[in-house]
Amino acid sequence: MEFMLDTANIPAIKRYVDTLPVSGVTSNPSIIKKEGSIDFFKHMREIREVIGAERSLHVQVVADDYDGMMADADAIVNHIDERVYIKVPVTEAGLKVIKSLKAKGRNVTATAIYTKFQAYLAIAAGADYIAPYFNRMENLNIDPTDAIREMVNEIRRTGSSTKVLAASFKNVGQVNAALECGAQAATLGTDIFDQAFAMPSVSKAVSDFTKDWESVFSAGVTIA
Ligand code: E4P
Repeated sequence: MEFMLDTANIPAIKRYVDTLPVSGVTSNPSIIKKEGSIDFFKHMREIREVIGAERSLHVQVVADDYDGMMADADAIVNHIDERVYIKVPVTEAGLKVIKSLKAKGRNVTATAIYTKFQAYLAIAAGADYIAPYFNRMENLNIDPTDAIREMVNEIRRTGSSTKVLAASFKNVGQVNAALECGAQAATLGTDIFDQAFAMPSVSKAVSDFTKDWESVFSAGVTIA
């Protein structure tokens, strides 16, 4: 199971890489917009420094035509590093880009996936990860759980090494559902992790344990 951070915010990345089992960082142009007017490549290199070589960094192209996306991909690799996963939307032009990038030995994450068929094409084109957009699918009355289950089945049927990197979550229940359908990875905004830990019953359980302990051994005395 891989958990990734769907953010480009460096303090948040530092915090969660330190505390949680994070295996990578993903972003898209809308996520980059939240960081304001940054020096894009410098910022991405800083993220790489924070996460190290062992975690994956997924950076999206901005152009929407073949030549433009290929130029974006070259710039991403040249200005960040060769380990980067280049995020490419699964359009007709995007599929051509995915095939070309894989032929060049690049790492590719196929993104903006709303349908099984987009996923099947991206798997056939050799994408390393495919990113179905869970919440956006739900908003369109497309069942993301059925779609993810079938994407995982397609990977099995074809013996492909592609992994499902479920994305676009608005709550923890959606993440659980994606993982339980077989998604090998999920990328989460920091708001989802915050939601997950903001459970009054968990905080109460921990503080009750402390109170019970201290009622016997006095306040401030710990096991160590
Ligand atoms: C990640 O790869 C996706 O770009 C992202 O999760 C989309 O999230 P959104 O639907 O919240 O914009």
